[in-house]
Amino acid sequence: MATVIGPRTGTQKGHEAMSDDEAKVPRGRAWRAVALTLFPDMFPGSLGQSLAGQALEDGRWSLETVDIRGFARDKHRTVDDTPTGGGAGMVMRPDIVDLAVRDVKAGPSGDLPLIYMTPRGRPLTQDRVRALAKGPGVAVLCGRYEGVDQRVLDAHEAEEISIGDYVLSGGEVAALVLMDACVRLIPGVMGSGDSHAEESFEEGLLEYPLYTRPQNWEGRTVPEVLLSGHHANIRAWRCAEAEAITRERRPDLWKVYTASSGTPGRDEN
Ligand code: ADE
Repeated sequence: MATVIGPRTGTQKGHEAMSDDEAKVPRGRAWRAVALTLFPDMFPGSLGQSLAGQALEDGRWSLETVDIRGFARDKHRTVDDTPTGGGAGMVMRPDIVDLAVRDVKAGPSGDLPLIYMTPRGRPLTQDRVRALAKGPGVAVLCGRYEGVDQRVLDAHEAEEISIGDYVLSGGEVAALVLMDACVRLIPGVMGSGDSHAEESFEEGLLEYPLYTRPQNWEGRTVPEVLLSGHHANIRAWRCAEAEAITRERRPDLWKVYTASSGTPGRDEN
């Protein structure tokens, strides 16, 4: 039921799939992601590509899927039932989900925080991502249908996280988003010094606009200051742009930024 999506050797069944010294980075120290899902084939998905995929290959992080349906006990492999109290759709059964969670908790990933992806959760923030990326990893429960019975979430003290104010058809894509945001912060994954200092949210601001060559593209030129080589001016321009964009697009972030930096916005008073 547990499938390790591991370095070089591809997809393997069972916890014992790969020994620590086979991985380029020892498994014991690598960040771990576990997805509890009815659709294990949705993993690694985008995380098997590009830098995250290379880092997975290199053993800088590991990914395991746990097929919740494997814990169903009837011949139809039922995992859901109708909502108590009435209403549309189906709800994932607590007893089946519990077996899957217990299986993870009894194994080598038993120390990971359990996260349940749901639009009802607290919004995911870069601060939370940073904290999770610094920890041992995440075990992410992906809901389908209308969601998971609340009792099993309460019993296992699952942290409920949303990736935005819209409803996806299941938690898997949300889990991939959460894992992606964490994996790129693992040292060595992004390369080139791993600098995240100027990204959106690092200073509580959205990022300034980016440009590259050609200097003139279809009559659109890059801002003159960026060609000046004057680093202080470039920094000041980028800061002003980041502030202007944040103020316009994200009044919520802007409020926090101005309150915490103690300075009113440039053209505020
Ligand atoms: N599952 C469905 N929609 C979701 C969302 N917006 N965030 C997290 N999990 C979800």
